[in-house]
Amino acid sequence: MILGIVLAALLAAYAAGWLWFAAREGSPASFTPADLAAPVGTALPEGFLWGTATAAYQVEGGSEGEDWWAFEQEPGRIARGERSGRAADAWNRVAEDVELMRRLGANAYRFSIGWSRVEPAAGRFDGAAWEHYADEAQRLRGAGIEPLVTLHHFTVPRWLAGGVLDPGFPAGLARLAREAARRLGGDVRLFCTINEPNVLMFKSFVEGSWPPAERDPERAVAALANLLRAHAFAAAALREVLPEARVGVANHLRVFDPARRSNLLDWVAARATALAFNWAFYDSIAAGRLRFTVPGFPKLDEPFAELKGSADWFGLNYYTRDLVRFAPGAPGNIERVVGPGPKTDLGWEIYPEGLLRLLRAAHARYRLPIHVTENGIADARGTLRPTYLRAHAHALAEAAREGVPVLGYFHWSLLDNFEWEQGFEPRFGLYRVDPKTFERSPASGADVFAALAAERREP
Ligand code: FCB
Repeated sequence: MILGIVLAALLAAYAAGWLWFAAREGSPASFTPADLAAPVGTALPEGFLWGTATAAYQVEGGSEGEDWWAFEQEPGRIARGERSGRAADAWNRVAEDVELMRRLGANAYRFSIGWSRVEPAAGRFDGAAWEHYADEAQRLRGAGIEPLVTLHHFTVPRWLAGGVLDPGFPAGLARLAREAARRLGGDVRLFCTINEPNVLMFKSFVEGSWPPAERDPERAVAALANLLRAHAFAAAALREVLPEARVGVANHLRVFDPARRSNLLDWVAARATALAFNWAFYDSIAAGRLRFTVPGFPKLDEPFAELKGSADWFGLNYYTRDLVRFAPGAPGNIERVVGPGPKTDLGWEIYPEGLLRLLRAAHARYRLPIHVTENGIADARGTLRPTYLRAHAHALAEAAREGVPVLGYFHWSLLDNFEWEQGFEPRFGLYRVDPKTFERSPASGADVFAALAAERREP
């Protein structure tokens, strides 16, 4: 009898938990071909930013002052032993690349500062390098293209010996921010302090595949804390010099769904993963605390008032979904597997409905305007990008119709580029780049991007 009651209670609790998740994590129906043909521009606010994105290290070439440059020389770090080298030679092709954006009909461009170029030694700025970026910003503005400048996109100058763990990193980023606001503030209003702090923490200190290639939960949490401090200091510095600056962080968000939808433990594992990976950074900002409380990591929870209000917008980088399985004994007791849909060249599931889900979730959580700061596909044959673009644009339009305040979309990437440990093989560019001549030619999907950009409504 008692056993029966206990069993029934357990069953009821299980069912209630399952229903709770199923109700909260409702998925939109799969997009249909009719959805993909629906107009996008009319759903989006006037003045919506249709742009592309790059990062200094991945396209400029000759970034020998950065930590990654030394890392690349170590055998086994980069696929096929490739080196970033001249990358897409973008440092020497600013005018040409602005012209490419104009041809796409883009009205925005997200790029990053090569920190060691503008600050080759700690505290010593290089006027000519700053001039280069000021000139770029001015050209963009002249072509009707709104610049969005990222201060830190994964790499740091070699003189910052401790990388993002260096005690000087937060003050260093603030110094860079102040100078960027001074030198570029005439043409730039949108700033991203840090790109994907969650990916950096994971790749560099959990998986150990990016410099400094460690697997150390304590250092992982210390890195996250320092990235939070650096963001807060940089945001304050930008605003001090340039009160009209609009500041955010680009977060890499993934959809985490349960691998077995009937298994409550998979639901719990998926949700816990999302909390740790997707939301920890902005949750800290919202709380005004350095906070990371995830099993398997040392607990971080201390006040840091400078974080409060330090973000004007939320940056959402979206690529794919993972399925999560509760797996006792695996690291963190979870296992991630690739979802069931079609795959990109990198084996990432193509799941455009996920962008809509994450836009809804980010809006519900923070009530901030949102820029989709990255979204794109490795597609060397060019068979997938056109539909990929249409489907993700539809997600954006749907979110806008539902009242999510989306302000911009930045396609990764303008150009084929150096994709970190994957080297040059993944082709994300709306423009192909010839690896020898650096000649640019439109990739499949460039026409779709241009058609979408043409739908936008001017303010
Ligand atoms: C993102 C990075 C970006 C690029 C894309 C494919 O995680 O921010 O630099 O490598 O993935």
